[in-house]
Amino acid sequence: MTEPRSPQVVLRNVTRIYEGGAAGRVHALGPLDLDIPKGEFFSVVGPSGCGKSTLLDLIAGLAETSDGTVSFEGKAVVGKVPEGVGVVFQEDSTLAWLTVWDNIAFGLRRRGALPGDIKRRVDDVLRLMGLGDFARAYPAQLSGGMRQRVCHRPDSRFGATPHSAGRALRRPRPTTRLLMETRS
Ligand SMILES: Nc1ncnc2c1ncn2[C@@H]1O[C@H](COP(=O)(O)OP(=O)(O)OP(=O)(O)O)[C@@H](O)[C@H]1O
Ligand SMILES: [Mg+2]
Repeated sequence: MTEPRSPQVVLRNVTRIYEGGAAGRVHALGPLDLDIPKGEFFSVVGPSGCGKSTLLDLIAGLAETSDGTVSFEGKAVVGKVPEGVGVVFQEDSTLAWLTVWDNIAFGLRRRGALPGDIKRRVDDVLRLMGLGDFARAYPAQLSGGMRQRVCHRPDSRFGATPHSAGRALRRPRPTTRLLMETRS
């Protein structure tokens, strides 16, 4: 009998409240409990403003909870993007002066990954994202949807993407986690 594996992403009682903005106090999310197993292709779908990006930001360590806890692979996510997590932003976040290949390699280089490892992982992501023919292109030479698929840390991926970009990612490898936000 195989042991049940613990979930890769665990949220407990997670709440996010934005205070003091022009709109006053906004209760953006929660309280939310969520377990995402390793290898799961997980989508968050909902109307504009319902808290999808807020949820992804919290899981990716880009925002802090007002209450509750987020953990990734057993470690609390606090104040920084966990090791092994990549982020595809809702808005275009490519670096205009780098090719698609170098944009994807950017985060790996910053982390000091070995050249062979960078090449393997970047090529892998290019294939997954359907951008294999555009490795040497610059962001300005891509469509908006293609630019959105250029991600900075090709490992686990947490992305906020409209539906069209989501469809291009329909065949994730089993080792790839994709947390995708979709908008109709
Ligand atoms: N930095 C912020 N300051 C104040 N309020 C915010 C902030 N970011 C988000 N909000 C509010 O939190 C709520 C959830 O926003 P969020 O960006 O998570 O929505 P969303 O589901 O991703 O929407 P969309 O589909 O339009 O991208 C909204 O009411 C928004 O106005
Ligand atoms: Mg959003």
